[in-house]
Amino acid sequence: MRALIIGASGQVGATLTSLCVRRKIEVYGTSRKGQGFLYLDLAEPASIAAAFEKARPEAVFLCSAMTHVDGCERDPGLAGRINAEGPALVAAECRKAGAKLVYFSTEYVFDGKDGPYAEDAPVNPVSVYGRTKLDGERAALALEGALAVRTTVVYGYNPASKNFIMQLINNQRSGAKMRVPSDQFSNPTYAPELAAAVLDLAAADAAGIYNVVGPDWLSRYDFALKACEAFGFDPSFIEPKLTDELCQAAARPLKAGLKTEKLAAKLGRGLPPAGDSLRKIAAIIKQYE
Ligand SMILES: NC(=O)c1ccc[n+]([C@@H]2O[C@H](COP(=O)([O-])OP(=O)(O)OC[C@H]3O[C@@H](n4cnc5c(N)ncnc54)[C@H](OP(=O)(O)O)[C@@H]3O)[C@@H](O)[C@H]2O)c1
Repeated sequence: MRALIIGASGQVGATLTSLCVRRKIEVYGTSRKGQGFLYLDLAEPASIAAAFEKARPEAVFLCSAMTHVDGCERDPGLAGRINAEGPALVAAECRKAGAKLVYFSTEYVFDGKDGPYAEDAPVNPVSVYGRTKLDGERAALALEGALAVRTTVVYGYNPASKNFIMQLINNQRSGAKMRVPSDQFSNPTYAPELAAAVLDLAAADAAGIYNVVGPDWLSRYDFALKACEAFGFDPSFIEPKLTDELCQAAARPLKAGLKTEKLAAKLGRGLPPAGDSLRKIAAIIKQYE
């Protein structure tokens, strides 16, 4: 398989790229900046066509998105171009190339009133990010054989990333307080396990929507406490807050999260518990101390 990873500089794309290299899959990665990547901007159709011409992919993993949820709320026009129109352009290139499309979607397609959600639960996004990602998901799935992977709260040890666990580690190191919502429930997902499951789903030619998340359904505050326990951190720098108190621009789905029975039936396994993944990160932290 020759793979094109759109958004290889991001958390998920970089993890997926490393795994492709380890599995000896020929891989091209894109970014709007930085060396060693093909240039691709989802808002520039010509750059998408040029990257396809260079990579001639058999499988395309669309990890790029405008992921800043409050930023999307403030600039819905740009969010629509990147998160909704961009995937439609990528799907059109995949159709021309005969390539399989794997699109990364989100639990933010739901309103968070009665999660965790199965793949066929009715969607109802409450933010610009959620609405534009849902439009992107639909554009991707309009392509025959496309796979849409819904995930959430992706974390891993990656100093270049601002994922929740890296924020927690950085705040602990700098002595800063960290305000963490105690009323947002979901399934934290370890990036390397997400990447492995997605490559396995693609290899099994899975199509349609699959939830790929960790098995623990817990509040962000409880996840922070679990991480502190695994890392040996005194958790007193973590301050529980209600989402309303954080005054964020975009609404959040509160009782969200995703069910993974469909994933387990397809692969014969789910993702490991968060405690196992956090202990792996604890070992990495120790190496750098
Ligand atoms: N992280 C999570 O918790 C989470 C949860 C649910 C769903 N997802 C979805 O999973 C995917 C990957 O997320 P992530 O955490 O890896 O995101 P990330 O770390 O924020 O990376 C975002 C990627 O998008 C690229 N990008 C941004 N604007 C672009 C544009 N105009 N054109 C082309 N590329 C652009 C960035 O590349 P450059 O800036 O280098 O160009 C970067 O590679 C996204 O689709 C996201 O919606 C993530």
